[in-house]
Amino acid sequence: MSNALYPGSFDPVTYGHIDIIKRAARIFDTLTVGVLNNNVKSPLFSVEERVKMLQTACAGIPNVSISSWQGLLAEYARQAEVDVIIRGLRAVTDFEYELQMAQTNKKLNPKVETVFLTASLEYAYLSSSVVREVAAFGGDIGIFVPDFVAREIYLKLRPEGVSGRAEDKDTDNEQ
Ligand code: PNS
Repeated sequence: MSNALYPGSFDPVTYGHIDIIKRAARIFDTLTVGVLNNNVKSPLFSVEERVKMLQTACAGIPNVSISSWQGLLAEYARQAEVDVIIRGLRAVTDFEYELQMAQTNKKLNPKVETVFLTASLEYAYLSSSVVREVAAFGGDIGIFVPDFVAREIYLKLRPEGVSGRAEDKDTDNEQ
């Protein structure tokens, strides 16, 4: 049985993350999506909000569960008894940081391997920070995140006027 962990900030979850989750869930028996509860950064969404959005986004994938953690990833991987850490690679600019992180985690927890999944072409440019920035300036983020996530972002960033597209739909679990 191979158990994998996909860690990240997920502030918020994007279609790029969801794509990696679906693909990793096809490869491994179980996949835990781990949301970093980081007191140093000041995220847009609380860890509880990020977990909830991921739970909604992943509701249709039976072998995926959502969790959160504080502290070192290598230690969390040990406690969660996972064999593999999944990370998505978009461009070569991701690689240096990801390689360093994978090697550090391997030193700290020799039992865990990092497996990289390359971002699908249609999401290769996409990041949570870009989504937050576009939303902050009132742009349409419906092409980057599910509508229920877009709605939550606009409520945080632009509570005076939620974008039409996000407002139109009640529930949206598309991935
Ligand atoms: O979505 P992100 O922000 O790219 O995810 C980065 C994350 C959360 C995986 C990384 O920052 C992390 O693992 N932080 C926990 C602290 C840690 O273990 N750092 C040492 C790894 S070099």
